Amino acid sequence: MKKDLQNEFLSTITHEIRTPLTSIKGFSQTLQDNWDKIGDEQKKKFIKIIEEQSERLIKLIENVLNVAKIDSNNENIVPKKVNLNQIAKKVIELTKINHKEHNFETNLASGELCALADTDFCEQILVNILENACKYSPKNTTVKISTGTKENNAYVSIQDEGEGIEENQLPKIFDKFFRVDNYLTSKAQGSGLGLYIAQNLAHKMNGEIKVESSTQNNKGTVFTLYLPVFEIENFTRKDM
Ligand SMILES: Nc1ncnc2c1ncn2[C@@H]1O[C@H](COP(=O)(O)OP(=O)(O)OP(=O)(O)O)[C@@H](O)[C@H]1O
Ligand SMILES: [Mg+2]
Repeated sequence: MKKDLQNEFLSTITHEIRTPLTSIKGFSQTLQDNWDKIGDEQKKKFIKIIEEQSERLIKLIENVLNVAKIDSNNENIVPKKVNLNQIAKKVIELTKINHKEHNFETNLASGELCALADTDFCEQILVNILENACKYSPKNTTVKISTGTKENNAYVSIQDEGEGIEENQLPKIFDKFFRVDNYLTSKAQGSGLGLYIAQNLAHKMNGEIKVESSTQNNKGTVFTLYLPVFEIENFTRKDM
């Protein structure tokens, strides 16, 4: 990494760590100093904030470790046959737990949808995209997940009913630490690493994530993960 990039990385990380830590420290101190003066409801609220900020730190650390692995080219896989329908279903169930106020609609290709890929990478990519779909669209809206094949690719598409992303911001959203500067992003926590990680993992599987978005008429955003379709001819039995 070049020196100025390294410095920028460090200063961003330091800021991202300091913000939740300051909040955790502040709320812990307030609780200790005013324990007898604060009501139970207020105490619960403060403890909840401490928990959320700790989660934010854990997620940040996990993401930074993932970025370090990707950037040092240390995370390589041997692509295998994976069933994208099965992975999509699992990730939807996991996401539903934390996003009960969203509706999820699925339109999956019938039977198995096999790609030449890596299960863990696919799960991580879809978690990041689905989390975003929920984070950046209003409650009680629908997130649609569809799967299928197009030319030599198998795909998973995730569409939300959020406000969309401005056209001039679209090329930047896969950059490290990039977050669109709008009220939606300032309301939702994040460090701008999710899509950088997702796109890099997709590339490692010879795949690609594409995005289409509109800020008109609440058409929302569609992220599509394309992966090489699994074809039996590419494999001898021992590879499988
Ligand atoms: N579905 C979406 N609708 C609108 N904006 C989005 C959507 N997905 C991503 N974005 C924008 O792209 C930015 C980058 O997304 P990314 O997932 O990389 O980071 P993040 O969600 O801010 O943080 P992290 O994923 O690291 O917790 C977001 O901050 C947001 O501004
Ligand atoms: Mg994200």
